[in-house]
Amino acid sequence: MQIIILENADQVAQYGAQQFVDLLNRQPDAVLGLATGSTPVALYQNLIQRYQAGEISFERASSFNLDEYLGLAGDHPQSYRHFMNSQLFNHIDIAPQNTHIPDGSTEDPLSTCEQYEADIVKAGGIDLQLLGIGRNGHIGFNEPSSSLASRTRVKTLTPDTVAANQRFFSEGEFQPRLSLTMGIGTIMEARRILLLATGETKSAAVREAVEGPVAARCPASILQMHPRATLVLDRAAASALKDVEFYEYIERENERLLHGGE
Ligand code: F6R
Repeated sequence: MQIIILENADQVAQYGAQQFVDLLNRQPDAVLGLATGSTPVALYQNLIQRYQAGEISFERASSFNLDEYLGLAGDHPQSYRHFMNSQLFNHIDIAPQNTHIPDGSTEDPLSTCEQYEADIVKAGGIDLQLLGIGRNGHIGFNEPSSSLASRTRVKTLTPDTVAANQRFFSEGEFQPRLSLTMGIGTIMEARRILLLATGETKSAAVREAVEGPVAARCPASILQMHPRATLVLDRAAASALKDVEFYEYIERENERLLHGGE
């Protein structure tokens, strides 16, 4: 697990965006794994700016999002499809048919989930999966106690997650308690994983994910088992880690080896 600690959320977004820019320039037909939530918004804005500046194209790329609320159609303003269209897809040259998000309006969740898995395989697998982390350590909507080998399926959201996302729904509006989410096993098959975490509210989950045991009670801890997982943290999200100095030392050494410094 590579731990990168940066000064603030802006730097985290820039670092994250650079990983996508480098990938797309190397491999224009890359398969991108995307996330919603507040954390990736600044990264998406950075990608839009760099697309507008002519630095990258998504023309040959495709994408798979982690999750969607079950019970919300794609045109619902709180659906993750709507979020992705308005935060990223509408502003770049990705082909709409190449963007995949589980269909929250499905009448048959089981086969929707199976098809989603099959579509990822058909696309050749995910090259770079972006993740946020819940305050309880969830990734995608894989809440604590999710099987670490799980596949795309229906998951019940914890009251904590429902409360954390309540801010997006107006009073009295239907707020889903179920989701369709890639499983932890699905996420772990991505060739590279990039988890971004910013802010003090994430510090306990980050500590458990990085320095705790690999355990279903903190789904993000499974990233310890991934050969190419990078966690990019701001100071606040890293504030509960015990071994900050060591992680920073490793990164300085990596830089030194890469760039041949002192
Ligand atoms: C979003 C997702 C979630 C979020 C997590 C953090 O697609 O899968 O796991 O990444 O809830 O959300 P924010 O970034 O809003 O703190």
